[in-house]
Amino acid sequence: MNVKETLLETLAESDGEYISGAMLAEKIGVSRNAVWKAVRSLETEGYLIEAVTSKGYRISAVNNRLSEKLIRASLKTESFGKNIIILDETDSTNNYAKETAVSGAEHGTVVIADTQSSGKGRLGRTFVSPKGKGLYMTVIIRPDFDLETASLITSAAACAVAGAVEELCHSDVKIKWVNDLYMNGRKICGILTEASLGMEMKSLDYAVIGIGINVRSAEGSFSRDLRVSATSVEDETGLKIDRNRLCAEVLNSLERYLSEIESRNYIREYRNREFLTGNTITANVNGNTVIAFAEGIDDNANLIIKLPDGTIKHLSSGEASLCRVIE
Ligand code: BTN
Repeated sequence: MNVKETLLETLAESDGEYISGAMLAEKIGVSRNAVWKAVRSLETEGYLIEAVTSKGYRISAVNNRLSEKLIRASLKTESFGKNIIILDETDSTNNYAKETAVSGAEHGTVVIADTQSSGKGRLGRTFVSPKGKGLYMTVIIRPDFDLETASLITSAAACAVAGAVEELCHSDVKIKWVNDLYMNGRKICGILTEASLGMEMKSLDYAVIGIGINVRSAEGSFSRDLRVSATSVEDETGLKIDRNRLCAEVLNSLERYLSEIESRNYIREYRNREFLTGNTITANVNGNTVIAFAEGIDDNANLIIKLPDGTIKHLSSGEASLCRVIE
């Protein structure tokens, strides 16, 4: 590692504490002037570093530059994030991750992009991904569980991400069945899971879990229509969350939820967060719009609805789309 990389790693590991120029110089084995030059160089790369006379240097809490070292500093996982790929731009991190998975990438590999030119949402929709504003990440998993359990991946991921966002910003995060996260009634995050079946069609070869979180205020980048339904963590909380911390928190949480998925214990939390439940909704079921009462979530994370004639249906995510609460 060169001076700049060692400096970044040292600052990343200081957990927000200042480290004096003298201490950095000693630790890295260079002069204080070389430390100062490396700080300047990191700043030109976009890192926000605070320098205070008599205290020293630290990475700013509002730094917004994605960095493997800064993610690693908060990572507490076994395998998620062992391999981290950070891209300035790609069409879609899900596409990139699928290609990487086909080439043999290991379980837990994560692909992150600063922007996506064709971010994908469910049902062929676009996920608007302005540069530097969101956390656009995809995790490759090679699970050994059966296909029924595999159908729970997105709902478990929704709980995991909701918990991670709450941990950093202390504001309630709700889930709109099946894969959207909401804050104060507007969407802050969408999740798109894509999977490839193994040869015997009994289990998955791999799945990619794509997570898009609107982190920083991006009002100017969203169309007027989108602004009505979408928001960002910053717009709702006033907090400029560091995407590196958030990425690590998501990976920590996701690894834990997926390792316990077979117990279905998370379903209780999912039910508590889900907000269609208890409301009259419209849902597009296999191409037809129906009005129904959302009764709740079953043990397979399906939405239970009651139709006007009293019929009860359990909807899987593949069957229903565009569920909306009727006010
Ligand atoms: C949705 O809202 O319907 C799902 C949106 C999922 C967006 C994320 S951003 C990272 C990953 N890459 C993509 O192209 N999509 C997912």
